[in-house]
Amino acid sequence: MIREILIHPDPRLKKPCEPIAKVTPDITALAVDMLETMYDAPGVGLAAPQLGVLKRLFVMDCIKEGLPEPMVLINPKIVFSSEDMNVYEEGCLSIPDQYAEITRPREVTVQWMGLDGAQYERQFSGLWATCAQHEIDHLNGRLFIDNLGPLKRQMITRKMEKLKREWARGL
Ligand code: NI
Repeated sequence: MIREILIHPDPRLKKPCEPIAKVTPDITALAVDMLETMYDAPGVGLAAPQLGVLKRLFVMDCIKEGLPEPMVLINPKIVFSSEDMNVYEEGCLSIPDQYAEITRPREVTVQWMGLDGAQYERQFSGLWATCAQHEIDHLNGRLFIDNLGPLKRQMITRKMEKLKREWARGL
């Protein structure tokens, strides 16, 4: 089921999320909905708080052409970040049509729990690394625009407020 994606500013996008103790059928159903919602948008990543669920879970698939590689990461934790940095023009499904260059570690190693309850660890680089860090920020109540200066951030927030007012009026 495709669910509604929250648009910034929304207090639920600013809150740290709770760890998931156990993979229940509800969590599996949520992950399936998140993947469906992400592919429909379309986007390369989506975190649970973007659907208003304050749990530590995100989905991603950074394959742009070819076979999809859907990933579900529960309680993800970065255990290594490279000193080498990378600049990527980021966007966010909760901040439509706004993009900005963000500097982050080029490679990260992430540990997480899969939908099967098993623990995983993998090194990510390129867009996968950027996406994983962006999504983990969401779980800590942080948006990519929080990495920008206050002026630029305020400008984007005002644009989003205007967009939400227009949507509310049915424009
Ligand atoms: Ni995002």
